[in-house]
Amino acid sequence: MTRPVQRPNRPFFSSGPCAKRPGWAPSVLAGAWIGRSHRAAGGKARLGEVIDRSRAILGIPSDYRIGIVPASDTGAVEMALWSLLGARGVDMLAWESFGKGWVTDVTKQLKLGDVRVLEADYGDLPDLSQVDPARDVVFTWNGTTSGVCVPDGNWIAADREGLTICDATSAAFAMDLPWDRLDAVTWSWQKVLGGEGAHGMLVLSPRAVERLESYTPAWPLPKIFRLTKGGRLNEGIFKGETINTPSMLCVEDAIDSLKWAEEIGGLPTLVARSRANLSAVTSWVNRTPWVEFLARDAASRSSTSICLKITDTGPLSGDDAAAAPKKMAALLDKERIAYDIGGYRDAPPGLRIWGGATVDSTDMALLPPWLEWAHAEICGVGLRAN
Ligand SMILES: Cc1ncc(COP(=O)(O)O)c(C=O)c1O
Repeated sequence: MTRPVQRPNRPFFSSGPCAKRPGWAPSVLAGAWIGRSHRAAGGKARLGEVIDRSRAILGIPSDYRIGIVPASDTGAVEMALWSLLGARGVDMLAWESFGKGWVTDVTKQLKLGDVRVLEADYGDLPDLSQVDPARDVVFTWNGTTSGVCVPDGNWIAADREGLTICDATSAAFAMDLPWDRLDAVTWSWQKVLGGEGAHGMLVLSPRAVERLESYTPAWPLPKIFRLTKGGRLNEGIFKGETINTPSMLCVEDAIDSLKWAEEIGGLPTLVARSRANLSAVTSWVNRTPWVEFLARDAASRSSTSICLKITDTGPLSGDDAAAAPKKMAALLDKERIAYDIGGYRDAPPGLRIWGGATVDSTDMALLPPWLEWAHAEICGVGLRAN
């Protein structure tokens, strides 16, 4: 196995924080609203700009609220869980680490009584037809740690009585989201558009707002989770009046990423860029005997968090075989070919390559020869005497 010559232009394949957009430079932050109150007109306008541009690009209906909230995607999901759940029974879907984390929250922290957990192992989806439209449902659109996503929203009833709460952080801006089937949706800036961690986005449907205004959870809510004031929705949050102080540097960066998304053609182009990344990996996986997607069904295979398992480690076995993907990732990191592509700590040993919209498919297409090389180096197979 000879060492490849051509290197990816940008070795950034981390699943979060993800690659900055092509052409990004720190100078895009030069005009940031810093050293000033975020509640002054200019600061509020910038926060509002993030909301408006996000709505336009994602095609979010005008009667849905969009808020910027604390603590990245986790903050946004927690806010939704703690504020909305408890009014009726809930179906929790989990098929990888993040979904399992939300299950823990609901069963061990909120201690809700009427919870059904519909689980699947890494690589599969639970049986979506089991979801009861009379109940709330909590799910992750794209399971970042297994590379398995729901294929669409057709399994969600249009006339459901329950609410759908969807962690879409590694799907938004790379996959089509059916807004009419979703009631609370979250993401963070650090994922598909390559922004910064810190703040979360929370989208609420009119039905979610109705729940907030008609139901008060039995548990106390800390200030940073509170979406209502005197029983009414705190509308200010959805106009850029954040609950607490945001980073205006992160806000400026988010605006830059949204402008880039618009310039290249909006959501269809973002989705196409991510699909092209998956295609570049798929054609290689299909012709390579020692690697497989962790996602078993092609219809639910993620185009953003592309998770691979190594099925042949040559002479290595046991712990050595299990350690091989990590070593391959470390080697490619050291060579500055691909940063941060080791599988997630709780996932089965493997590789996870980010294929979101900020990654160029020309770079993705250059990875396979290097993966072959790293596999040969670490597993001691396919080595050719020169
Ligand atoms: C599906 C999913 N949910 C939640 C999170 C946590 O996101 P954050 O660190 O932005 O809060 C991540 C991060 O990778 C994720 O992939």
